[in-house]
Amino acid sequence: MSFLAANGCVHMDFTGKTAIVTGASSGIGAATAKLLSTHGATLALVGRNEQRLLDVAKHCEEASSKKPLCLLLDLTIDGNCDEVVRKTVETFKRIDVLINCAGKAAVTSLFDTNMEIFDELVALNLRVPYKLTQSCIPHLKRVKGNIVNVVAAPVRVRPGFLPFAMIRDALDRFTKAGALELVSDGIRMNAVRPGITRTNLLTNLNVEEEFMDQAYDKIAMAVPNNVIIEPEEIAKMIVFAASDSCPNLNGASLIVDGAASSY
Ligand SMILES: NC(=O)c1ccc[n+]([C@@H]2O[C@H](COP(=O)([O-])OP(=O)(O)OC[C@H]3O[C@@H](n4cnc5c(N)ncnc54)[C@H](OP(=O)(O)O)[C@@H]3O)[C@@H](O)[C@H]2O)c1
Repeated sequence: MSFLAANGCVHMDFTGKTAIVTGASSGIGAATAKLLSTHGATLALVGRNEQRLLDVAKHCEEASSKKPLCLLLDLTIDGNCDEVVRKTVETFKRIDVLINCAGKAAVTSLFDTNMEIFDELVALNLRVPYKLTQSCIPHLKRVKGNIVNVVAAPVRVRPGFLPFAMIRDALDRFTKAGALELVSDGIRMNAVRPGITRTNLLTNLNVEEEFMDQAYDKIAMAVPNNVIIEPEEIAKMIVFAASDSCPNLNGASLIVDGAASSY
């Protein structure tokens, strides 16, 4: 439920709504979970790192007085996406919002001689959001819910990131075509598309902690506004897209990248 306040500001109210957030133990997913909790959402949080997921859950519970359901699952293992949906419905009886945020980047190229990294990237970044969406449809249909996919901004493809960019473009197509498939059932699907954002993504690319600031400084110099985006800013766009503020926001590609993909 959402409404305009007397001063014309948009209020987003997720009271009585349940949202699944994947990638909730870190970065953009963690910031989104925290922000959703301040808007009253009941949360099912998915991640693999127990301590970080519990820390996020504690923060959310303090903000909303609602205990999140924590699901420590590797989503690439067969059956685990269904398990997320089954446990969420068993616990909260409904699903209003699915935030597909779990993902990773990895460097590989056509010159690599094996398919290991390519397959890993497809499994997590593409197959998981497809499968979770599929499993959530009956529940989203009941409440006219929505899905937000976190998809990298369409910046120029850099060497080493060809599979990541291929998956990014596929997710964008998934969002647009998915929105068309689901619109007759009253379900919306949008993409929020971050530019370079300060999360654990670089750690997972094996950048060592002591070189992290240097790495971000160097990346910042390559973007037009020289700014690394904070995950809280991306979370605001995700929560807006997931709210009922714009009922016809559907199949949209909401780019938040400081003009990095503009040309
Ligand atoms: N940061 C950026 O600059 C940027 C830019 C564009 C797009 N994105 C996209 O934004 C999304 C969120 O990334 P982030 O930047 O917030 O990165 P992050 O801080 O590394 O978070 C990634 C999240 O995905 C979860 N995850 C990874 N593998 C998983 C698996 N097999 N099963 C279940 N969960 C898994 C991680 O859980 P654990 O840590 O608990 O394993 C973590 O919660 C990703 O899809 C990424 O591609 C990021």
